[in-house]
Amino acid sequence: MKGIILAGGRATRLRPLTLVTSKQLLPIYDRPMIYYPLNTLIKSGIKDILIIIAPDYSGHYLNLLGTGEDFGAHFSYIVQKEPRGLADAFILGKTFIGNDCVTMILGDNIFDQDFSSEIKSFKSGAMIFAKKVPDPERFGVVDFDNNMKAISIEEKPALPKSNYAVVGLYTFDNSVVDNAKNLKPSARGEIEITDLNNIYLRKGEMKVNIFDSLWEDAGSFDSLLRVSNYMQQKSSTK
Ligand code: TTP
Repeated sequence: MKGIILAGGRATRLRPLTLVTSKQLLPIYDRPMIYYPLNTLIKSGIKDILIIIAPDYSGHYLNLLGTGEDFGAHFSYIVQKEPRGLADAFILGKTFIGNDCVTMILGDNIFDQDFSSEIKSFKSGAMIFAKKVPDPERFGVVDFDNNMKAISIEEKPALPKSNYAVVGLYTFDNSVVDNAKNLKPSARGEIEITDLNNIYLRKGEMKVNIFDSLWEDAGSFDSLLRVSNYMQQKSSTK
């Protein structure tokens, strides 16, 4: 299992904080944001990790993270020239992924959960995680049947069919490389991870795991502050 952290993007919602640095280098309490997704992957037993970064400030990531030795891992880097969408991770990552399976995590997604048993027991197809949220229209939303079997995923629906948001942690078998290559850009001009997920869902090859612990997309001022406070609390009760 290889790992990818998608840490590019424009971070427009966090301006002016992100005018002269990158979102995933901003502090979450006592460490740079990217440490959290890195640790989520490393805790899951993933040691070979590709970090996808935007052209601006890319050198800062190398200075901060280096080879990965300090984390007991091996890091590779690739620059994404333009934010083409989340599914671009598997196009840019083709050579890195090789013939392996891959878990991709968004560089601004913070979890307080150990996903290692799910990731280590992954065999084929695709696996995502979903959490009940009050504002599902901001995310990919999973619709379930009466037996809680996932039947569709919609990207930012105006009228969400459930409150279950797809979070930024996705595991795929090697077919993801070809499937991503064949995606067409959506109306907003991005190649969508939701379209990729639906390919697996339609074939009956998608596992959706529901979880209930902390998940924040730290891309807004409020969520950045919330997750910093959470981590501060957690560290003071250790
Ligand atoms: P977003 O938060 O959707 O986008 P953004 O980071 O550019 O922020 P904003 O909406 O404020 O402009 O991205 C989620 C994560 O994925 C984040 O870590 C950035 C990353 N990303 C890429 O690396 N490449 C991409 O093409 C996109 C769309 C996102």
